[in-house]
Amino acid sequence: MTVDRARLEETAQAMVAQGRGILAADESNATMTKRLEAVGVESTPESRRLFRGLMLTAEGAADSISGVIMYDETIRQATAYGTPFPVFLAQEGILPGIKVDTGAKPLAGFPGETVTEGLDGLRDRLRDYRELGARFAKWRAVIRIDPGLPTRGAVEANTHALARYAALCQEAGIVPIVEPEVLMDGEHTIDRSEEVTAAVLRTVFDRLAEQRVLLEGIVLKPNMLLAGYDCPEQAGVEEVAERTLACFRRVVPAAVPGIAFLSGGQSDERAAAHLNAMNAIGGAPWELTFSYGRALVGAPLRAWAGDNSKVADAQAAFLHRARCNAAARRGEYAESMEYELVA
Ligand code: 13P
Repeated sequence: MTVDRARLEETAQAMVAQGRGILAADESNATMTKRLEAVGVESTPESRRLFRGLMLTAEGAADSISGVIMYDETIRQATAYGTPFPVFLAQEGILPGIKVDTGAKPLAGFPGETVTEGLDGLRDRLRDYRELGARFAKWRAVIRIDPGLPTRGAVEANTHALARYAALCQEAGIVPIVEPEVLMDGEHTIDRSEEVTAAVLRTVFDRLAEQRVLLEGIVLKPNMLLAGYDCPEQAGVEEVAERTLACFRRVVPAAVPGIAFLSGGQSDERAAAHLNAMNAIGGAPWELTFSYGRALVGAPLRAWAGDNSKVADAQAAFLHRARCNAAARRGEYAESMEYELVA
């Protein structure tokens, strides 16, 4: 099967279009259950549908959101009016996306490291998701920094899988989000984050080339360079932005249309400030945008907390975060925006 290059490029460019970014609402049921229970809500298909639905149908979301990554359950669910979520999103001008990995599992022989699974049967699943309306997909590889980690074996296993996934997506006419996440948890310094992130990204692009992946038809979803959260020395916003950009210039080919960062457990404000600082520097060869999970979903989840009389508040909280990050994507975010929330 030949790859429809023009369609892939067009979709990838729309995903990283100016002024908008991607909502990662693709938590697995296990992760979503943890998040819901943390705010006192029982996790059921219906509570998950209600919460995801309130974000997806928030009026004006399309002004700041270019695409939504869904989980298998969500892409098969519908709005209160019975419109399937992917159909609704497409009508709003938002690209429907789907997480297709089946999770990070312990890597045999490598204590403390994981390999992300999900390649078996992926060609057929991609065809089904495409019929449901998916235009792009996501696969998250997880790399942990610790003394002696990551190992070469874990980096090889994960990047090979990412490249196989990306090639299968492009064959199906679906743009792959390639996500090699170097975790921000731990005691490591920002220097170590840079060393590991650069090495992982170099390997990712080698593997993508080997598997004949069209770089113009992917979106890269990496971590920013940060010291581990338990490191006593934390870098300031400018340093994070400058070092992340300098590192990426060395290892991310200019053919990649856009970089959509994950938030990785940063505070909502930091996630926006870092993205903003990178866009304010400017001159990068790729679009710099967001594909945030926690930094977009946390605030509306706390506002809603299962109380359906709070749907409007939760939607306002979601739109506020989406607007702050969309402003950051243009280099126009300021901390004062945080006080402008009108419920
Ligand atoms: P966070 O922004 O919470 O890191 O989630 C993004 C994501 O999709 C991780 O795979």
